[in-house]
Amino acid sequence: MSTSFQNIKGTFDILPDPHTDDGGTRTAASAEWRHVEATVRDVMRRHNFEEIRTPVLEPTELVARGVGASTDIVQKEMFAFERSDTQYVLRPEITAPVVRSFLQHHLDQRGGVQKLFYIGPCFRAEQPQKGRYRQFHQFGIEVLGADQPRADAETIAVLMAVCDALGLSDLRLRLNTLGTPECREEYVGALQDFLEPYADELSETSRRRLERNPLRILDTKKAHEQEILRDAPTLIDFVNEKSRTHYDTVKGLLDDLGVEYVEDPHLVRGLDYYTETTFELEHPGLGAQSALAGGGRYDRLAEVLGSDAPVPAVGFAAGMERLFLALDAADVELADTPTPDVFIAALGEEAERWGFRTAQALRAEGLHVAHDLMGRSLKAQMKEANRQNAPYTMIIGGNELEAEAATVKEMESGAQEEVPFDGLIEYLTRTAETA
Ligand code: HAM
Repeated sequence: MSTSFQNIKGTFDILPDPHTDDGGTRTAASAEWRHVEATVRDVMRRHNFEEIRTPVLEPTELVARGVGASTDIVQKEMFAFERSDTQYVLRPEITAPVVRSFLQHHLDQRGGVQKLFYIGPCFRAEQPQKGRYRQFHQFGIEVLGADQPRADAETIAVLMAVCDALGLSDLRLRLNTLGTPECREEYVGALQDFLEPYADELSETSRRRLERNPLRILDTKKAHEQEILRDAPTLIDFVNEKSRTHYDTVKGLLDDLGVEYVEDPHLVRGLDYYTETTFELEHPGLGAQSALAGGGRYDRLAEVLGSDAPVPAVGFAAGMERLFLALDAADVELADTPTPDVFIAALGEEAERWGFRTAQALRAEGLHVAHDLMGRSLKAQMKEANRQNAPYTMIIGGNELEAEAATVKEMESGAQEEVPFDGLIEYLTRTAETA
């Protein structure tokens, strides 16, 4: 079969079976996605997080202001469009939307700290490559209303707990503090002064960043720029006492939990809203797009979005596709595609009608039941039962109808048993439980 259409580059279909694209990248099966999502939900429940779902469409201005006008996301990567004088964007991330929702619905009035989690698609018009897509999925958390370092440490602990529950190890957590925006401004000035004499040696991107967003130069992957930066002033020397104490406490709490980290004074992150603690989690199996997750504190974002009171907050988001790449590289096996408890193979019109009714009755009892919808021969139906990996096939034809007993075949051994119609539910429920 064929179609003249293809999915858009940088997006992908999630199918019942895993599949591999032209570049050799594996896309996990829907059952594997469900397994990861269920694991995330379970970890969130254990850590007392509640789910929030916000729209995929948001006002463009929310992202421009929230993420920051000078960031790559806003400058180059937004899927934004106008319709009837309204500017829409397909959300490139979920932190600004969650803060918008928190403020709009006065979630602070629920009392206490709001611990929210989300799972959903995001959109960035990046150059697609392995681990970098135009539609990708994030799961993440936002802890709103908490200024304590314990909130930072708990945020990181939740991320590590998800990885642990999935069986992913070999991770590298990079940690830094950006201090307050005021400290940072002072530092940016010092960094600009330091880099100015090297301007001719910098790449075009870095030269542009020197004007608009000098901190991002610290992120450079270019060896000669890293060399120049070796003697650059470091942010931590500009961070005030309070921020330093906060950072030291976060580190102490992580030590208490046995969470290992490396301090990286060059970790600045690509979004403008961060203050104080920032972190990224990496896995060696990811190659160039090494960040599995990233996050940090963003104490000023609520006010940037119009709040008249500050909302200290911290969170992270992880890329689900990158998580799958890391799990694949680490050879972690995830859930198999679910298989039916029983396949009903019916021969003849009357048996088909009986099979159809019985399938519904068994399903109402909670059993996973498959049957033929193509009117195929018994042989073809048995083949289909095998393809679907059904452990049992219930065969029903004229003789069975007359005897009011189905022939139930155990597919692996080939053993057959006659099971009276009125004992079928009990029989199949028992076999499904022991399977
Ligand atoms: P981010 O670092 O931009 O942070 O994205 C978080 C994660 O999303 C990345 O580490 C990566 O795994 C995944 N990701 C990002 N872009 C792509 C892409 N084009 N294709 C595949 N995966 C991608 C944020 O989005 C912040 N909102 C995180 C946060 C939450 N900070 C505080 N709270």
